[in-house]
Amino acid sequence: MSEPLLRVRNIETYYGPIMAIRGVTLDVPEGKIVTILGGNGAGKTTILKTICGAMDPQKGTVVFEGEEIQKRDPDWVARRGIAHVPEGREVFPFLSVLENLEMGAYTRKDRAAVRQDIEVVYGYFPVLKERSDQQAGYLSGGQQQMLAIGRALMARPRLMLLDEPSLGLSPILVKEIFDIVKRLNREQGVTMLLVEQNANMALLTGDHGYVLEVGRIVMEDTCANLMQSDDVREFYLGMKEQGVRGKRRWKRKKTWR
Ligand SMILES: Nc1ncnc2c1ncn2[C@@H]1O[C@H](COP(=O)(O)OP(=O)(O)OP(=O)(O)O)[C@@H](O)[C@H]1O
Ligand SMILES: [Mg+2]
Repeated sequence: MSEPLLRVRNIETYYGPIMAIRGVTLDVPEGKIVTILGGNGAGKTTILKTICGAMDPQKGTVVFEGEEIQKRDPDWVARRGIAHVPEGREVFPFLSVLENLEMGAYTRKDRAAVRQDIEVVYGYFPVLKERSDQQAGYLSGGQQQMLAIGRALMARPRLMLLDEPSLGLSPILVKEIFDIVKRLNREQGVTMLLVEQNANMALLTGDHGYVLEVGRIVMEDTCANLMQSDDVREFYLGMKEQGVRGKRRWKRKKTWR
């Protein structure tokens, strides 16, 4: 098997004395969509922060294209081709939509290609073109999510880290965002690592999935298989079925939606 684009090995990440990530290992193969499912506080955001360089793991390695990146700063990691779309979008509210997109290309010198890529982003998200001169702070939540993804695309990343793109959006908008994530993967060749509480959409979108609980991976499989798993169906998809209780492996109370 060829080397995965991203290889995370046994990382441990702390907030002060609190161990949030307790030895996580995962692979993201080139060209795939990999998803990490988990409830509130499971550690999803912390994993992405560790990969993008916003946090340093105390132990373990993060290897991107064969190179260890776990102690690098976020700017260095971004220049290597990893774009992070953080939880809660974090667009620049006082800049226009267009200026936000231009900020996403700050690592690039090829101004003509940047212009073309802005049009590519507008192709995926026509509403951003309509609002290009408007302050980003006045966009709706869904439009800000589109802008955050568009801005990340402007760096021409090899790998995009998406932190709960569905958060706070209506079901229709959630579907629209995930459809575009799939298209970006297929059409632009962007490999995706997607963390989500919305297990249903994540499993429909992803190729391979990991289930995270209290900082540990407790399950991993193809998304198709995870969809069929009794535990995932009960705890993450909210489908309680006859006979599942007796087979329950996980004892702890879960948070899910
Ligand atoms: N800044 C912080 N300081 C201390 N502890 C933190 C901090 N941020 C997160 N934690 C703790 O680390 C653990 C993992 O948090 P993380 O934000 O990674 O979870 P998550 O899976 O992204 O949750 P959510 O779905 O709510 O976004 C939690 O127990 C959380 O309370
Ligand atoms: Mg989070």
